[in-house]
Amino acid sequence: MSFFDMDYKSDWWKGEGSPLLKSPLPGPRSKEIFAKGAPFTSLTGRASLCPVVFEHGVGPWLTDVDGNRFLDFSSGVYVTSLGHSHPRVSSAVASYAGKLMNCHDYMTEIRALYFEKIASTMGPGMDYIHLYDNGSTAVEFAIRAARSITGRHEIITLFQDHHGKTMGAAALGRMNTSHNTGRTQGFYTVPRPDTYRPLWRREDGRVDVEQYLSFYEQFILESTTGNVAAFVVEPIQGWGGTVVYPDDFFPKLSAFCRERGILLVADEILTGAGRTGKWLATEHWGGKPNIVTLGKGLGNGFPMSALITGKEHTKAIAPLGMSSTYGGNPMACAAGLAVIESIEEESLLENCRMLGTQFMDGLEQLKQKYSFIGDVRGKGCLLGMEFVSPHESQEPLVDAGAVVYEEALKLGLVAGIPTKNLLRLAPPIILDNETAGLGLELLGKALDAAQSRLGL
Ligand SMILES: Cc1ncc(COP(=O)(O)O)c(C=O)c1O
Repeated sequence: MSFFDMDYKSDWWKGEGSPLLKSPLPGPRSKEIFAKGAPFTSLTGRASLCPVVFEHGVGPWLTDVDGNRFLDFSSGVYVTSLGHSHPRVSSAVASYAGKLMNCHDYMTEIRALYFEKIASTMGPGMDYIHLYDNGSTAVEFAIRAARSITGRHEIITLFQDHHGKTMGAAALGRMNTSHNTGRTQGFYTVPRPDTYRPLWRREDGRVDVEQYLSFYEQFILESTTGNVAAFVVEPIQGWGGTVVYPDDFFPKLSAFCRERGILLVADEILTGAGRTGKWLATEHWGGKPNIVTLGKGLGNGFPMSALITGKEHTKAIAPLGMSSTYGGNPMACAAGLAVIESIEEESLLENCRMLGTQFMDGLEQLKQKYSFIGDVRGKGCLLGMEFVSPHESQEPLVDAGAVVYEEALKLGLVAGIPTKNLLRLAPPIILDNETAGLGLELLGKALDAAQSRLGL
């Protein structure tokens, strides 16, 4: 029995049907609003590449202020996995917006219900939960928690990981965007077992995971003080380029950490809450994380995140003062509960896995057709493609991501998030095969246009 028992049809988002472009992009109203707002701030590349101004969204459809309609294959930014304005989530938030917005850390009924629900998705022993309002804060608390639990201070992550933009979280990621700040002491990064560009291969051509682990062993010996509290890892790298690791990586990394008293922190902010077809991406491979962080899809657009671990760590963690101003507020708990109820009732994990097969088949076909696609990869509805020079093996085709993105937008597809030679796709997990197929078709046309534009 659901708390937010609601009567909506599974095709609630299907009315819009197809993209609709009424004016060349950006339309006149978009231009006007962009000119008014943009000078006040710095927008990300994607938002300024072609400055359309969105006005509303229904399911996978986004409509701009000029009445142009787009198919959104970015889910906001890996956030609206259940589609824009999901009726159950919107109504859950609205009901608490009119009832109780904040009472700090006091327990509420909706929070108690949400704790029970989220714990039920996590598997045995993951039942100690703290809620926040953004991913970076959950990661900051994960670092503090790992230090307090182990009594050690050093943290290791993988090359090109992204864990957020606050000071501690940024220290876990690449430093190329952290001009002048430098990496905080005690934070280290080590190579990721990237299947497309591996550093170490076995004789059969597969990635040599053992070699990576023995490098980590050497690294800990040579570069750290031996006080490593945690490996903080994205199960599938998002911003680093949708990098899916070999099947044996997680179980082996998990064992590696366990044997050395190091905690494994799975940062599932981007990969969790069903995006890959399981509640947690780590479930695909096994290997048990000690701490999990969740965000993005957790509230389907309502800002919320979580840190989840086992109750055995209460004594070490509670004294850190784990509350925050907005963490666990009634609206967030209502949104989070509505998300999990919808995933369960609409069988969305199964749907996501089914879509994942369709998408990977479709992307493989595109790769066969376009020689500037070097690699396609993903799981469920977390997908990516990497563009390379058709003439030189694996030479990144810098800027191709943005060109494909722009061409797709002109056709009515918000084709994920471009960076350099990468395009990362995150369609919502509610899609049917027909709409997923439409997205692939539009992507194919965009690749055609990009190929000519790039003179390939
Ligand atoms: C894996 C991962 N961790 C943490 C974060 C930070 O989340 P937020 O932007 O909500 O602070 C992100 C954001 O993209 C992320 O992808």
